[in-house]
Amino acid sequence: MDHLELVIRNAVAVTAGDIQRCDIGVADGRIVALGRDLPHAAQEIDAAGRYVMPGGVDGHCHLDQPMPPPMKMADDFESGTRSAACGGTTTVIPFAAQAKGQSLVAAVDDYHRRAEGRACIDYAFHMIVSDPTPTVLRDELPRLIRDGYTSFKVYMTYDDLKLSDREILDVLEVARRDGAMVMVHAENADCIAWLSERLVESGRSAPRYHAASRPAPVEREATHRAITFAELLDVPILIVHVSGGEAIEQIRWAQGRGLSIYAETCPQYLFLTADDLDVDGFHGAKCVCSPPPRDVANQQKVWDGLVNGTFHVFSSDHAPFRYDDPRGKRLGGAEPAFPHIPNGIPGLETRLPLLFSHGVGTGRIDLQQFVALTSTNPARMYGLYPRKGTIAIGADADLVIWDDKHELKLSNAQLHHNVDYTPYEGIRLTAWPAVTLSRGEVVWDEGGYRGVAGRGQFIKCGLPAPARPRPKDFTWRTALGL
Ligand code: URP
Ligand code: ZN
Ligand code: ZN
Repeated sequence: MDHLELVIRNAVAVTAGDIQRCDIGVADGRIVALGRDLPHAAQEIDAAGRYVMPGGVDGHCHLDQPMPPPMKMADDFESGTRSAACGGTTTVIPFAAQAKGQSLVAAVDDYHRRAEGRACIDYAFHMIVSDPTPTVLRDELPRLIRDGYTSFKVYMTYDDLKLSDREILDVLEVARRDGAMVMVHAENADCIAWLSERLVESGRSAPRYHAASRPAPVEREATHRAITFAELLDVPILIVHVSGGEAIEQIRWAQGRGLSIYAETCPQYLFLTADDLDVDGFHGAKCVCSPPPRDVANQQKVWDGLVNGTFHVFSSDHAPFRYDDPRGKRLGGAEPAFPHIPNGIPGLETRLPLLFSHGVGTGRIDLQQFVALTSTNPARMYGLYPRKGTIAIGADADLVIWDDKHELKLSNAQLHHNVDYTPYEGIRLTAWPAVTLSRGEVVWDEGGYRGVAGRGQFIKCGLPAPARPRPKDFTWRTALGL
């Protein structure tokens, strides 16, 4: 057995597959031994019967993403990964976003510069493809996929990001051939623009009308359209940030037909409703995100989808904008009309404690489902497994020792992001990480941040497990069965 640098004793180790009582031995940042009565190590942590789980993998968060000025994200790689670590997440996958007219390679290079020396936990990149030119499709995307950037998001809405239907087909064709995973933001841009115009013209511009401008059918239609494209090209896709029953019905319909349609949901669709946008003054802006939170009945459908396996991943979609800030929610005035309010809410640090407390703690999901949704499945979905997302010999020692008897009322003051609010202020929690370890090093314990900016490493992603390159060449003839 290798010389052990760290032993976590008396763990109840939970993976997506099983639960076992054991000690966990660590050397060189990796798990090298699992068993009873491991030899003494220089550093010992007694987990004393606590659940020890793989660190969270947040497969959808936005950090220091370039925005049209003066809009600015509040968290960069330093504050964002600090906040993640304090909430039990040990790998983040934010987005290198291509601006229209920009080369994709340049967007990735720029994003590396933003991350360099700042992260305290490991990170990989997705890409956002907003301008799939012939050069991007023929040269850049294939090269980037080979170099470890194996997932990319496409948008069906937002003027500065959205792709036309045929552009989405072009991108899916590359993903199919080279085995990458395409994440889809599914909302119908024209419906949103049309509704927004009518709402603002009639004086309905307060934050609550953001939800009215993108009702469930707008998400349902785009979800169905994205599924149709995936079926046409016989390629897996992941529908991100699914908000409720209407989109879930489409996804279950597709899954029932045997299509490889994966789905993600996020805390805002379990813990917020459109009523949270409809509060006194401008405070509803804090909960403006897209798709918007729906109602209590839809929250229940999202819980059902987590329980019955419709959803594969549970991510934060952390999109950090300060509330009281002209670069944030008060962009362009004290109370801008809803179409000008930056979309997105913070959630990196609260993702795991919220789902543990209200999912595992209430018996809605079990411990293994929790690990699968928050760590193992995103690691597999984005080609990081088994280095990340499990407790196994050879895996990185990214671990969380959970305190599942930790009663607290959440307040933004205890969080470590750089945002001046949490949409979950006052919510009761029953669990919080006691210790977070990243490659065997403690980055959070006893209520304190112990990480160091710059220790986090960039990890290249392998090909996503569900998206291996298809064996036969695809042409339009294949789609038509010719
Ligand atoms: O409102 C949201 N979700 N903002 C973040 C960007 C995105 O579409 O995920
Ligand atoms: Zn999105
Ligand atoms: Zn997002």
